[in-house]
This record gives sequence, structure tokens and C-alpha cells, in this order.
Amino acid sequence: MATPKIKIAPSILASDFSKLGEEIGLVIEGGVDMIHVDVMDGHFAPNISIGPAVIASLRSHSTVPLDVHLMITDPEEFVEDFANAGADNISFHIEAVRHPLRLIEKIKTLGCTAGVVLNPGTSQDEIEYIVEAIDMVLIMTVNPGFGGQAFIPEMLEKIKYVRAMLGDRDLEVDGGIDDKTAGDVIEAGANVLVAGSYIYNSDSYMEAIDQLRVGGEA
Ligand code: DX5
Ligand code: ZN
Repeated sequence: MATPKIKIAPSILASDFSKLGEEIGLVIEGGVDMIHVDVMDGHFAPNISIGPAVIASLRSHSTVPLDVHLMITDPEEFVEDFANAGADNISFHIEAVRHPLRLIEKIKTLGCTAGVVLNPGTSQDEIEYIVEAIDMVLIMTVNPGFGGQAFIPEMLEKIKYVRAMLGDRDLEVDGGIDDKTAGDVIEAGANVLVAGSYIYNSDSYMEAIDQLRVGGEA
């Protein structure tokens, strides 16, 4: 099987919110493939972040796709707002929905690609019967809620299983991705690397992005 292209998706959660336009401009200059936007409602995840209004503002500043990660309950009620705000991909948590196929259809009808997300404690078996319908799977490598948490190594096995299910479609990982963990997740089969603190806490966003793309430290 051909290895899909490695894509880098900075999470703006770790950026300076007082100058978001500039913060995304810098990583786009650094050659990233998309911007990862973490949406949390204080219910599904123990934190509150941003909503459609911020995404609409970002849309006019971004020349790359906006990858919106919904960590919210009842995502069915909000996908239209996020699509209208300018999301290109919308990913929802399998733990948050009753009828995932219906939601995937709705997201696609709104003109977006659809991703499904698995929390660390959720088995890949939960998506066995919907996998053909989805554009991307996102495997959480930390528990949702905060940037800067430690990568959970048990997720490497899940990445391998899901890669086998997905063929050459995108397999994204999110949480604790840095120059130490990038190589392992790529080797296991991930090809879309979300990174918040590793990129936004570094002295050179560009060097951090390049490091991730080559799988970090040798
Ligand atoms: C966690 C978010 C992540 C987070 C990643 O709830 O989904 O996207 O921002 O942050 P780092 O890269 O710092 O682990
Ligand atoms: Zn995320």
C-alpha cells in the first residue's frame, strides 16, 4: 500500500489568541497543509475554547483548509454553523453521537469532508461499520481538553489497526505530537500530524514543522 503524504496540522489552541491571524499566517508560510481548530464546549471536554465566529474570521486569513475538531455534545446541532463559518473538514467524536452515518451524510451535504474521532479509551471496533463512509479518522493520543499533555503510547497499536482499515485515506493523530513521538506515529501508519504546543512553543515555527514532517529525531 502506498504511504499517504505526511500532512502537518498546527493546532491553534496553543497559539496567541490576541493575534490569531498572524499566528496562522506564520505556520502557513512554514508550509503546513491545514489549520486544526479545536472546538470544546465544557461538556464533552473539560474546557471551553472557540466557536463558529472565530472560524469565520480565520477563514479569510487562511489559504489552507480549516480542519475543525468538534469536542462537543450533540454535534448534529452545530455542524451547519461550522460549515457556514468556513470549515473544510468537520470531525466529530464517535462517543458523542447516536447515528454517525446520518451525521456523516449531513456533513458531506454541507460541502465538507467528514472525519470521525476516537478517544483514547474507545476501540477501533466502534467504527468498523461506518469506515467506508468517512474521509478521515482522527485518533486522540491524549484525552481531549488541553494542549501540552503527554502522548499515550498504547495508541500506536490502535493507529496500526486503523491504518489497515483505512487503506490510503487520511489517518490523523492529535495530542502530545512532537519531535520525539512523530517518528513512532508515522511508522505506525498516521499521516496527518496535529501539533499545538510543539509548534507554537518553539522558537522557529518553520523548523518545528520541518522536524515533524521528517518524523522528528532520527
Ligand atoms: C486536545 C486537542 C489538541 C491539542 C493538542 O484536546 O484536541 O488538538 O491542542 O495539543 P498538543 O499538541 O499541545 O498536545
Ligand atoms: Zn484537536
